[in-house]
Amino acid sequence: MKIPKRLLPLVHAHLIDDVVGQLQSGKEAEVYIVRSGDKYMCAKIYKDEQGRSFKQKTQYTEGRKVRNSRQARAMEGKSKYGRKEREADWQNTEVEALSLLGASGVGVPQTFGYYEGVLLLEMIVDAEGNPAPRLNDVALTPEEARQFHLVLMREAVLMLCAGIVHGDLSEFNVLVSHRGLVIIDLPQAVQATANNAFEIFERDLKQLSAYFGRYDASIMATEYAKEIWNSYKNGKLRPDTPITGKFVQKAHKANVNEVLGEIEAAREDALARRGIKTDRS
Ligand SMILES: Nc1ncnc2c1ncn2[C@@H]1O[C@H](COP(=O)(O)OP(=O)(O)O)[C@@H](O)[C@H]1O
Ligand SMILES: [Mg+2]
Repeated sequence: MKIPKRLLPLVHAHLIDDVVGQLQSGKEAEVYIVRSGDKYMCAKIYKDEQGRSFKQKTQYTEGRKVRNSRQARAMEGKSKYGRKEREADWQNTEVEALSLLGASGVGVPQTFGYYEGVLLLEMIVDAEGNPAPRLNDVALTPEEARQFHLVLMREAVLMLCAGIVHGDLSEFNVLVSHRGLVIIDLPQAVQATANNAFEIFERDLKQLSAYFGRYDASIMATEYAKEIWNSYKNGKLRPDTPITGKFVQKAHKANVNEVLGEIEAAREDALARRGIKTDRS
């Protein structure tokens, strides 16, 4: 096919030889099948900010921490510099997240390089060697739905162990390859240490349980997000930590004496501040 303008620099740099076809012109990115020698890859062309949806922009802003405050102010602003910084950050986030997750054993496409706003990725394929369908494109039996759900909950554990929350996990960003499920599309990923990381994590997992819940309603009642996050928060989450989907908030037994002691101490502080002595001071 005619080589799209955005891919020409990669052809000139001999990173790719040919463009075979277009996979999808999504709202946020265009993905092409490209050839380099006898190898086929995907080339993901990021749309600039104006081309992105409001949803994607908000997802990006969530949980993002920027290094210094001048940069932070610029990135929030409408200046050309701010926009450029946001573009670069958005794309770098996906490249970094993919390589970190790949190294942590999460099923993600391998990256082959990033050049002029284009990310070269391993092409995920089905048993016939065609580009793999998205989870949303395949019909499942209830048994398969339960299995896939569990596989993705373990992937969520692995991602969190690597310190990353996907931020847009859904049936549209999971591919069904001949070797299992592969997670894609990470420009909005956030650090697990970000302020609202738990809310984003819980929303990701709820999206999946709602999807799989269409095949087996019992999946909807699972509480993996709270369970997994609780282990993470307590420093106990490991890649092989057993998970059940059940979470019982430990009832916090109120210690009456302790509470009364606190009240009395606060009262004494207040009195002391006003210069009134109590029998304990
Ligand atoms: N590595 C890949 N292998 C095969 N197909 C891919 C790959 N990456 C993306 N795709 C296809 O392209 C679509 C868009 O890619 P994605 O990264 O989800 O971008 P966005 O949703 O932001 O447009 C995916 O839904 C998938 O069908
Ligand atoms: Mg996507």
